[in-house]
This record gives sequence, structure tokens and C-alpha cells, in this order.
Amino acid sequence: MNAQTVQHELLMARRMARLGTETAFEVLSKAKALERQGKSIIHLEIGEPDFDTPENIVEAAVDALHKGWTHYGPSAGLPELRHEIAKYVSRTRGVDVFPDEVVVVPGGKPIMFFTMMALIDEGDEVIYPNPGFPIYESMINYVGGTAVPIQLHEERDFALDVNELAALITDRTKLIILNSPQNPTGGILPREDIEQVACIIGERNIMVLSDEIYSRLQFEGQPFSILQVPGMRDRTILLDGFSKTYAMTGWRIGYGVMRADLAAHITRLMTNSNSCTASFTQIAAIEALRGDQSAVDRMRAEFQRRLEAFTAGLNGIRGFSCRMPRGAFYAFPNITATGWKSRPLADALLEDAGVAALSGASFGQFGEGYLRFSVANSTENLQQALVRIDKWTKRNL
Ligand SMILES: Cc1ncc(COP(=O)(O)O)c(C=O)c1O
Repeated sequence: MNAQTVQHELLMARRMARLGTETAFEVLSKAKALERQGKSIIHLEIGEPDFDTPENIVEAAVDALHKGWTHYGPSAGLPELRHEIAKYVSRTRGVDVFPDEVVVVPGGKPIMFFTMMALIDEGDEVIYPNPGFPIYESMINYVGGTAVPIQLHEERDFALDVNELAALITDRTKLIILNSPQNPTGGILPREDIEQVACIIGERNIMVLSDEIYSRLQFEGQPFSILQVPGMRDRTILLDGFSKTYAMTGWRIGYGVMRADLAAHITRLMTNSNSCTASFTQIAAIEALRGDQSAVDRMRAEFQRRLEAFTAGLNGIRGFSCRMPRGAFYAFPNITATGWKSRPLADALLEDAGVAALSGASFGQFGEGYLRFSVANSTENLQQALVRIDKWTKRNL
């Protein structure tokens, strides 16, 4: 046989079979394909603010480029930014955080990836919220851990049941993931629940990954972090970033706050993977933290206003019932009364009604019976989506 015609089999590493994905990106490409066929689609699938990055941050980046911030920097992040993040986290969480406890990475996601890589051995158990951000489960499985879901309950406004958590903890539990405000439900973990989680962990050497990427998008009250509970500091990895707060999803910048010895290991993972986060982006992030915060407040108020209108609209549609989320920018209606399963309903709404939403089941087994709509779209489009869904249900239910 001619050597040039041999088709070699692609021999993947076994671990790749355990890696999941994020359905939002798949639904987006399906919706785009329908648009190319001439269909009108309202996009409520993707989880990113529809606002532009505030001008002062853009200006800071442009200026940084002109000033030559185009080179490699330290793997853990620029000292000025780590200092600024330490100040910000100290201020917002009321604990003293130091720059050597901060690692700057390209987005919030790498903190999940690196935390699992650094802490989880084969067979270690990781408890994670379900329904929840799909990358948690994907990464736990990828590194060979055992994914242990803790159910979030609609009747508790999508908080977890602390007694259920207690029952899931074993000698193999290495890490517990918390996320508040939460994707996809918009629920928050009340302070009492977080304190109880810490109480249940007690003196056990269990780490907590606290995903607080939506902390500035909580509608009422001050967000509370497990970092603030006495005794939890050295067992907490706080994940936060700029994507959602400052509408900077495409810039790829986020950070983790953790004990300094773990930060050094996570930094080594950065050296091995990305070398560093883009330098001019980090200069812009300093401006984001130091500059005028009114854009953040405006965006939060706008998301809340849209969610109030959208959930009210959903509650008027046959078979849908939706709680008002307490944060983030997602509505998570219960659709069991439609008699449809989540996935076929999401498909039908996309194909027949021209509304792109995500199946709750793509956020884990306990997401079945729900859909997720992102309200990162204009009021007009959100209203139009409600009209389309209403018409569809009248025709089909
Ligand atoms: C709960 C949660 N954590 C982390 C992220 C990742 O954010 P980033 O885009 O900064 O990587 C997201 C993004 O959708 C999210 O919903």
C-alpha cells in the first residue's frame, strides 16, 4: 500500500473519554446553523453579559499596549495586580488576604482545572452542586476523581440541604465545591448554610472550592464567603474574576485566592500551561478594580429588572413556573407541568419557536425538569422570546 494513503487510527488517551463539555457552546453553534438557513433565533443560551466592557478598562488596555505591556510576566500574575486583588478580596470578604495568596489566571475556569489537577488523586471524592456548572463534573471525572453530586432544591430557592451534605461526606472526600450566586439556578447560599457547611466539615482536612464569579451580581444583601468563617481560611480556594463583573468574558482573566503554599503549586501549573496571563489584560484589570464601579451597579440593576420581567412572563405561560433568582443573570423555570423532558423541550423551542435555551439536564441529573434562559439580551428580545414560547405552548400543549 502507498504510505500516503494510510489512514492512521486516532489513539486517544483514555482520560479523554471522561472529559465533558459545556452545552451552551453546542447549542450556540446549532442556533447559528439555523440562522444561516434563514431562521430567526433569539439567543438566550450563552452565559455572558451583553454589555460592552466599560470604557475606562478598554482605555487602560489600549494604553498598556502602547506602553509595551506585550511581554511575558510572572506566572502568578503582575505583583501590582496581585496586590490590588488582595486588597479587593480583603475589603469585600472582610478577611486579610495577602498578594502571595493570589494567582492570576486566564479566566475563572482555569482555577477549577488547576485545583483538581493539584488536589485530586484517583478515587478521591469531590462533592459538587447539581444542577451546576458542567465543568465541575467534567474536570472531576477527567482527573480520575469520583464525582458526588449534592442536589440543589427548588423549594429551598436552589440552596443545598446541609443534612444531605453531611450524609455525602466520607473518608475519601477531598474537596467540596460551592457556587453562590449560582449558575444555572440564580440561587444563593445563605450565610447560615455556609456556616453550617463549615461546621459539618469541622476539623476534617477537606478543601472547599468556593466559586464566587457572580459575587457582584447578588441582588439583595451582601454575599458571604466560606473564607470568612473562622478556621476555614487554609482550606478555602476562592475563585473569582472579571468576566461577569466587568463584562470581560473574551479578555480571559480571573484569579484564585488560596493559602500561599498551594498558590505556589497552582503557579507551577500556570508555568507549565500558559506561562502567564496576558500582561496588558492584567493592567486593564488593575483599572477595573481601582476605577469607577458604577457600570457594575448599572449592569446588576439591569439584570435584576430583566429577570423580574422575564420570570413574571414565564409564570404566565402554560406549564412553566419560575422563581425569581437572587443573583446572576439566569432564569431556571420548572417545566415538568408541560409533560415534556428538558432536552426535547429545549430542542423544540429552538427549532419550532426560534428561542435558544439550555436543557436543565445539561447541568446534571438534578437539572431534569428545568430549562435555563440567560437574560443577557435586550428587553425587546426577551419580550419577543416570551411571545414565541407562549405561542408554541398554546399550539403544542
Ligand atoms: C459558575 C461559573 N464559574 C466560572 C465560570 C467561568 O468564568 P470565566 O469565563 O471567567 O472562565 C462561569 C462561566 O460561565 C460560571 O458560570
